[in-house]
Amino acid sequence: MNQQSWYFVLVSNLDIIEDLSMLMENANNAFYGAKNVILLFYKEDNIAPIVDTTFATSYMMFEACELGLGTCWINGVKHVLNDSKYQLLKEKMGVPKEYKCLGSLAIGYYDLDEVEILPRKKDYFTIIK
Ligand SMILES: Cc1cc2nc3c(=O)[nH]c(=O)nc-3n(C[C@H](O)[C@H](O)[C@H](O)COP(=O)(O)O)c2cc1C
Repeated sequence: MNQQSWYFVLVSNLDIIEDLSMLMENANNAFYGAKNVILLFYKEDNIAPIVDTTFATSYMMFEACELGLGTCWINGVKHVLNDSKYQLLKEKMGVPKEYKCLGSLAIGYYDLDEVEILPRKKDYFTIIK
């Protein structure tokens, strides 16, 4: 086992972040002005690559929080990077061919005044004794 199904690309180039945002459908400033975006990829033919990669990403989110940074999972970029039209772009980023994009993580300093904390649902579990 020990498949380590993930591949990550850290994009710290604002022009590339802007280009990716423009390629996403209906997206305007899709990454909310973040100056760093991590593109998330998984090796499709592994046993549970989406779960593996999501776990790894979750720990990045915890670590970012520990460092005082905010993160937001941004989905739409996967439609761009999994489109056959953009495979060369993926290749130029160093991503091996057999990896698919799962999404991305925008990382940056957040403005608490702009964050709306929504109420949590209450009826989302069952206890069986
Ligand atoms: C798989 C996934 C994809 C997401 N894609 C986006 C996105 O494209 N744009 C966005 O602003 N937030 C995105 N989010 C963040 C959610 O909108 C939401 O802010 C976050 O999951 C916090 O969850 P909650 O507020 O529903 O508890 C995504 C979250 C997940 C888990």
